[in-house]
Amino acid sequence: MITLIVGTNRPGSNTRKVARHVEEIYATLKVPLHVLDLAQMPPEIFSPSSYAEKPKSFLPFSDAVLRSAGLHVVTPEYNGSVPGVLKYFIDMLKFPESFEHRPVCFTGLAHGMWGALRPVEQLQAIFGYRNAYLFPERIFLPKIDDLLDGAGRLKDPELLQRLKTQAEGFVDFVERLQKIRLRG
Ligand SMILES: Cc1cc2nc3c(=O)[nH]c(=O)nc-3n(C[C@H](O)[C@H](O)[C@H](O)COP(=O)(O)O)c2cc1C
Repeated sequence: MITLIVGTNRPGSNTRKVARHVEEIYATLKVPLHVLDLAQMPPEIFSPSSYAEKPKSFLPFSDAVLRSAGLHVVTPEYNGSVPGVLKYFIDMLKFPESFEHRPVCFTGLAHGMWGALRPVEQLQAIFGYRNAYLFPERIFLPKIDDLLDGAGRLKDPELLQRLKTQAEGFVDFVERLQKIRLRG
């Protein structure tokens, strides 16, 4: 199973819209997928006591990371960085087993012209520190508001093809590293 992390909890976020495309692509590849939308995190996880003791309601999130053969993170750019909630989510996961030798793939999007290059590279540093296996093919989607139509769908078929190529490559990467077959 691949676990897809929707890297913000902002209502109506464009990250969720792009993540929906990624979800659909894994479905066409017949790869089992679990979606972790940070907007669905239980409010208890934001209590300072969570550093010492995780609320039971967070278990579906932490377990979905531990059970995954690979992680696909879709992140927006907030203040030249990752959203605080995504970093906090990472900080709440079990150490060190959450990312140790786990393949990870990055898709970034932003309102601005750099298309989340900064948060993706910052995530690569974080996941590298945690001994994850970084899939080298990243995708950056600049000027995201121009790329989506009124229904929240990507307008350009070439971008959809790039997302598909990334997902296919990541599935190969995971299958080779984990010595498993993901495609049904
Ligand atoms: C708190 C916050 C900070 C932001 N900072 C940046 C930024 O530094 N650079 C940028 O290009 N866009 C920035 N944006 C715009 C987002 O990239 C834009 O909202 C985009 O749609 C992706 O975020 P979303 O998933 O929340 O929609 C920011 C948005 C928010 C809510």
